[in-house]
Amino acid sequence: MDKGITLLNVAGFTVGDTLLELSYLVSALLFVVGLKMLSHPETARRGNLWAFGGMALAMLTTILLHKDGEGKGISLTNIWIILAAIGVGAAIGWMVARRVKMTAMPQLVSLFNATGGGASMLVALLEYPAAAAGDVGSIIVTVLGLIIGSIAFSGSLIAFGKLDGRVGDIMKPFMTYINLVLMVLTFGLGAYIVASPNPPTEMGWAIYALFGLSLVYGVMFVMPIGGADMPVVISLLNSFTGIAAAMAGFIYNNQAMILGGILVGAAGMILTLLMCKAMNRSLINVIIGSFGGGVSAAGGEQGTIKEITLSDAAVLLSYSQRIVIIPGYGLAVAQAQHITQELEELLEGKDVDVKYAIHPVAGRMPGHMNVLLAEADVPYEKLVEMDDINPDMPNVDVAIVVGANDVVNPAAYNDPGSPIYGMPIIDAHLAKNIIIMKRGMGKGYAGIENELFFNDKTRMLFGDAKNSIQKLVTEIKTM
Ligand code: TAP
Repeated sequence: MDKGITLLNVAGFTVGDTLLELSYLVSALLFVVGLKMLSHPETARRGNLWAFGGMALAMLTTILLHKDGEGKGISLTNIWIILAAIGVGAAIGWMVARRVKMTAMPQLVSLFNATGGGASMLVALLEYPAAAAGDVGSIIVTVLGLIIGSIAFSGSLIAFGKLDGRVGDIMKPFMTYINLVLMVLTFGLGAYIVASPNPPTEMGWAIYALFGLSLVYGVMFVMPIGGADMPVVISLLNSFTGIAAAMAGFIYNNQAMILGGILVGAAGMILTLLMCKAMNRSLINVIIGSFGGGVSAAGGEQGTIKEITLSDAAVLLSYSQRIVIIPGYGLAVAQAQHITQELEELLEGKDVDVKYAIHPVAGRMPGHMNVLLAEADVPYEKLVEMDDINPDMPNVDVAIVVGANDVVNPAAYNDPGSPIYGMPIIDAHLAKNIIIMKRGMGKGYAGIENELFFNDKTRMLFGDAKNSIQKLVTEIKTM
């Protein structure tokens, strides 16, 4: 052990070792604080910096203070190789993150997940011989790290391909059975390696077979998942990446890796489950099935729809006191965030109180609406969460639904046969007047009819959201 420092050398534990462990504890604290700050848009940027600080500290102290089993530190040559790798990785990450468009963010997250999973996969593959010579615990974490890391790696690459439109969906029902067989084979082979009576060091063939099977399973697991369910899957793969990193941490007995991995794994899993809850679907349903599709929510008669002219809409909005804008996927498609913000400012100039009602799964990715509206400089305090705005909806003069559909569909309350039955919604139907902006009578992600369009208080303003709002703004300005 570290011969240079003997002052606090208790049972072979040197000052260097103590400092290293302490630095890992500080890193873990920085990760936790950073993660907490990520939960609010105002603190998210700083939260990222805190977590970055934790990671930088863990890397620095590992390079300077880590000792191997024989008490030797990292050689100078290896330090140069590590620094070069960090430099290349940081440069690529910096460039990609600066250039990526907001709309391509999920693709970038997928690629980052793939690199995380891939790194843990390589650690497990390279360290297997050493683990095999150790106890059964070492073999278990190595096998699990290899399986989960490989699934996260190949699954994330397929997720990237699908989001980027390079890989299509294969949603054949038989894929479920193939995937079940693959999953049993993969985990069965892993269990065989762990429990094998043969000397584990002779199990090279089985490790390579497990590596191949896990990669194939990752591909097949993501292939059948529908395009719009990809955010849930990306979050799940992110969680896998964290778990695989924690396994790699166990392999190296490195507290920072274990803690960091567990935090990513747990945060990813919580987000996955929250998204499923907000869609009122189970994780299994997201993975093996899709929304019912094409079913009529209310079943029979829908009634008639009523349109509103631009001038009537302009008068109604200008003479209202309280307006709530409900953005949805269509606002993102139309890129109507900037013009929506202009409308908001214009109405506020006429002493109208304007707020935005944010549904947790409006759009197609977590925080989709928050990110879009922040891009258009809408102040955070104007964005009100669904649970906070719903009790107030009966006092709202006009609810303007911009390209949203499923998240305002009352079938969630009153049609037990509907695939969205039980999903929490924004209570637009309780407002005194409802204006719905969409291009036509197209359905939303769930593929079902929306009885809100036929409500007596509802008026439809058909057209592309950006166009319609632009014309509305012009109309209000000329009043
Ligand atoms: P949707 O229910 O998907 O409805 C979007 C509506 O926008 C469509 O009915 C469409 O009607 C309209 N639209 C499309 N392009 C438009 C344009 N250029 N201008 C104006 N309108 C346009 O959206 P939502 O209410 O935001 O609900 C989100 C759905 O996605 C939910 O079912 C949710 O469960 C699901 N989902 C969300 C997430 C996350 S994390 N956000 C993840 C997975 C799934 P027209 O064709 O008639 O214009």
